[in-house]
Amino acid sequence: MTMEFDVVTLFPEMFDAITKYGVTGRANGNVYHLQTWNPRQFTDDNYHTVDDRPYGGGPGMVMLAKPLEKAVTAARNRQEAKGLGGINGTKVIYLSPQGRSLNHDVVMELSQLPALVLLAGRYEGVDERLIERQADYEISIGDYVLSGGELAAMVLIDCLVRQMPGVLGDPESARQESFTSGLLDFPQYTRPEVYQGAVVPEVLMSGNHARIKRWRLQQSLGRTWLRRPDMLALKIENGLSGEEKKLLEEFQRAYETN
Ligand code: ADE
Repeated sequence: MTMEFDVVTLFPEMFDAITKYGVTGRANGNVYHLQTWNPRQFTDDNYHTVDDRPYGGGPGMVMLAKPLEKAVTAARNRQEAKGLGGINGTKVIYLSPQGRSLNHDVVMELSQLPALVLLAGRYEGVDERLIERQADYEISIGDYVLSGGELAAMVLIDCLVRQMPGVLGDPESARQESFTSGLLDFPQYTRPEVYQGAVVPEVLMSGNHARIKRWRLQQSLGRTWLRRPDMLALKIENGLSGEEKKLLEEFQRAYETN
């Protein structure tokens, strides 16, 4: 399966950051396609106006509904021409701090869709009527305000692409990561064995795979307990195995005596 992304943005070049580099750069053009649509090219005045002052007053500018609607429609039409329309097809996502918070579950849910239109706003926002008319979902990448939706759209695309089959060299990579298991990752080490006086944990040099696996699980549980008690609580609600309980208690005892 491939995924089609159509991004409506005043700054299409920003998307080079994901289409040209690293994992998402290599996957570009085969497991996913990305096409940008600049609302400035859908204006009909000489100034190519895309924004105006807010009704009711206040600072900043608001993006005009009309050029955005034309750009979103062009994006939808491209996806429909590819047979990706209809109720199980294209969804339009507006990136904004008012949206539903992005997390692993939301990523997995959206990854079931064959195509997305992502709408990146600038300035103080977008005319609400455009959002009501065109957006199926509103998504936030966190409780802070970015200068525009582009970085948020790229965060979302990166998360979606890297978990598609065949994108990461080793399919285990995506499966073993934090949030898939409901736990944080265990710590990683590579050469040299001693770095600035700090040694690699002995167990990792033992060659005993069962011991290594247990140690890693224990580190994941312990770190989640220390750093993300909210995540651990959920994990416990869903039921820890006897082994996991034992490893966590051992970690907690060692932590408390240190
Ligand atoms: N646009 C501005 N801030 C944002 C955020 N936190 N998430 C998504 N889109 C945004």
